[in-house]
Amino acid sequence: MCGIVGAVSTRNIVPILVQGLQRLEYRGYDSCGVAVHQGGALRRSRSTARVAELRQQIDADGVASGTGIAHTRWATHGAPVVHNAHPHFSGGKIALVHNGIIENHDELRAELQAKGYVFESQTDTEVIAHLVAHLYDGDLFDTVQRAVARLHGAYAIAVFCRDEPHRVVGARYGSPLVLGLGDDADPEARYLASDAMALAGVTDRIVYLEEGDVVDLQLGKHWISERLADDNFAPVLRDVKIVHAHTGAAELGPYRHYMQKEIFEQPRAIADTLEGVEGITPELFGDGAYRVFKAIDRVLILACGTSYYSGSTAKYWLESIARIPTSVEIASEYRYRDSVPDPRTLVVTISQSGETADTLAALKHARSLGMPHTLTICNVATSAMVRECELAYITRAGVEVGVASTKAFTTQLAGLFLLTLALAQVRGTTTPEQEAVHLKAMRHLPVALQAVLALEPQVVAWAEAFARKENALFLGRGLHYPIALEGALKLKEISYIHAEAYPAGELKHGPLALVTSAMPVVTVAPNDALLEKLKSNLQEVRARGGELFVFADADTRIENAEGLHVIRMPEHYGALSPILHVVPLQLLAYHTACARGTDVDKPRNLAKSVTVE
Ligand code: G6P
Repeated sequence: MCGIVGAVSTRNIVPILVQGLQRLEYRGYDSCGVAVHQGGALRRSRSTARVAELRQQIDADGVASGTGIAHTRWATHGAPVVHNAHPHFSGGKIALVHNGIIENHDELRAELQAKGYVFESQTDTEVIAHLVAHLYDGDLFDTVQRAVARLHGAYAIAVFCRDEPHRVVGARYGSPLVLGLGDDADPEARYLASDAMALAGVTDRIVYLEEGDVVDLQLGKHWISERLADDNFAPVLRDVKIVHAHTGAAELGPYRHYMQKEIFEQPRAIADTLEGVEGITPELFGDGAYRVFKAIDRVLILACGTSYYSGSTAKYWLESIARIPTSVEIASEYRYRDSVPDPRTLVVTISQSGETADTLAALKHARSLGMPHTLTICNVATSAMVRECELAYITRAGVEVGVASTKAFTTQLAGLFLLTLALAQVRGTTTPEQEAVHLKAMRHLPVALQAVLALEPQVVAWAEAFARKENALFLGRGLHYPIALEGALKLKEISYIHAEAYPAGELKHGPLALVTSAMPVVTVAPNDALLEKLKSNLQEVRARGGELFVFADADTRIENAEGLHVIRMPEHYGALSPILHVVPLQLLAYHTACARGTDVDKPRNLAKSVTVE
């Protein structure tokens, strides 16, 4: 989703701005742009193509300066066209980029139009540019403080003014923003970015701005103000952290797409996530975890998208192994509904990025209701989610580039299984022997996953048939119902085939009406206690002429037959079986999308990191 980079320096910072945008590209965007202070005026280049094309345009236009801001945009207000791309200008004086959504933009737009400001875009961002221009009094830092006090909603902004050539001002509320300090090569430089990753290789000295902060960047110096409850601002010092951020996307190697590479990285990602886990102890989740785990008697999981499905899977583990009542809620629903808080709840957020706006807001909402104990399962150690939560388990999936999450999902499941075992230990619901058996199975996962990945050629053969369909139904039961949901989500996201998932027992209560020979029915069939029930559900489909595609454990004895296609998985893997069964569903979605020729890593309309609600 939207990304921000900004800088002041004595050298030309345009290459750093563009490189920063390239590092943020994988998050999804539909236009991009750069604005600089050059020759006493504002200059900009904007494009609806890729950042690489923007770079060519910048080179051709001769855009160069020591002061500038840059942006990747994921359209919310207004179509993805050049005139809506950031940076936005006001009166040839103010240049501004923005992440987030301004909720009172209509009201502000009317007010500014009445004062004579002419709008060139449909964005909420242009409203902020004109508001800053209108309030400008010769001091941009002071002006931005007065401007943001008028905004409702979420924002991270970077702005500069024609009349103050060596100054960039940033502000954040509800969207992340960091300040970077120049390194030995350019000690006078100051940087802004929506993610420290954009500054990887430029500086590792990072200040994480807090909600309501406004920051003033000048050559060799900076100031930060915090927003007080009465909307006034006061100077504040924030710690400088040394952050060794990833440089973003790795090489594709032999793979066609990042998604395929990431599917195949899962054995390594799980091994890395479990590295250093010598035994089960609450302290895996941070200091003081034992005390927290003793103080809670329920779990509330909050997440979005694929992360929500890992939480839905974990509910089965937490209730059956740790015997702890668990509810799982979609973050955007939870944050706005009336719920009954219980202070003895462990609030668990799950997030690949650690930046998802709805999940962060749901976490804060839960805390505001009087639930102080929070834990996150997150893939980005430096993210807002990790900083906001009392406890954390960092998955080590590595940077995930494909918008459709794969290795982040399975590593989240690994983290959630560890949480289950740690809670079970504290609650005395597992014996040391049972714990050792579970841990051994976890350690064997990378090998077991290799065996599943070897099924790829068989999945490719199915994908050819799927590519010609417009609908698909996914069935699962129990622990594997969330896996069916995740399989359907993967297929929707990247192949644009309409897919729905149902608990197989619900088939006769509605979806059976959809079953014809044109509707492929994908079934997750582990050899667990529900297998016989599931086989009855398969008969219900076959009796209606439906075509079944079944991923069956080796020990299930479900055989290929007319209208019944079977891919044989390894033997049943017990409680951890979902981690194996999701993999062929990822491969099915991937190869179906390839056969349909879609943009697999950047599916239409979707973003990797959803930083607006
Ligand atoms: C977006 C991504 C999904 C992801 C979801 C939640 O929709 O495209 O892949 O599952 O956000 O993201 P998070 O970073 O919080 O896990």
